Amino acid sequence: MLPTTNPAPPFAITRSSHVRMQVTDLERSRDFYRDVIGLVVTEETEDAVYLRGWEEVAHHSLILERGAEAKALAIGLRVRTDEDIVKAEAFCKQAGLRHERIELDHQGPTLRFVDPVGTHMELTSSMTLVERKHQRFAEFVAGAPQRIDHYQVATHDVQAATDFWTSIGMRLAEYTAKDGTDELWGTWMEVKGNTHDLVYTNGRGPRLHHFAYTVPDVSALMHAADVAGDLGFGDEIDRGPGRHGISNALFLYLRDPDQHRIELFTTHYQFIDLEDEPMRWDLSNAKRSQLWGMPATRRWFYEASEFPDEPVLEPLLQAAPATLEDVLGVH
Ligand SMILES: [Fe+2]
Repeated sequence: MLPTTNPAPPFAITRSSHVRMQVTDLERSRDFYRDVIGLVVTEETEDAVYLRGWEEVAHHSLILERGAEAKALAIGLRVRTDEDIVKAEAFCKQAGLRHERIELDHQGPTLRFVDPVGTHMELTSSMTLVERKHQRFAEFVAGAPQRIDHYQVATHDVQAATDFWTSIGMRLAEYTAKDGTDELWGTWMEVKGNTHDLVYTNGRGPRLHHFAYTVPDVSALMHAADVAGDLGFGDEIDRGPGRHGISNALFLYLRDPDQHRIELFTTHYQFIDLEDEPMRWDLSNAKRSQLWGMPATRRWFYEASEFPDEPVLEPLLQAAPATLEDVLGVH
């Protein structure tokens, strides 16, 4: 069933802003994100590396933290003001969600919480400002990612996740449903005015499928693929380049040294006007996933990063998307 967006949410979320990943070899992961992906390193400490896109003035949009296991630690959203963190905390308390106020370097008031399907979230209202490097063209590396854009999470219950996030202000831009039904297989939800900040797709979850950065253009995307090949990461291109029907993204997916997945893509269309209706796609319509080319591998569909100490549940909806292996008849 399609949920309705709450026009007066309890606190104001403004955009996807930062993702915190635990990695097992910090230096190797730093090298990957700096040299193969092309992010800017803002700061390094003994146990963390802070990175950002070339146009970002906020201190970080990707934090790599050293740890014993590969994990997705938290998905970050910005809220408008410090007061919105106070309101979000009150909301979590009232809704009975696990939550905790924390203090972190280079971030203003910060609240961690776990959403009803187990996604580990981190809200903050401000960050330290650094140089916007969007016109440092001579320094651009690989895909030269400009800014973080969105996250995709696999969940056992897309309906529950979508009901929750629309109840606190996200809008449904596009969705996939099992053919002939309103059973949701995936939902693309936004707050910042393009097609998505947060995506939930049916699968074993909660697990972070990918986080995504925009790149300047098609040539930057292809250059990223060439750089990955040159630096020995050609086999870690998980999918693409290709064009999604959903959201119109020209995409490239890569796996980092811990198999966390990052998407580079050219940007989405605007989705702002309230009379815009969400676009429906049948699960069997291959064009939703790729407008042209071959479907994604099983690896792309079924592998994702777990959150710490969060049980992974089997999906409620039994509906398997067509994979490359299906098309090729490989078992
Ligand atoms: Fe994506």
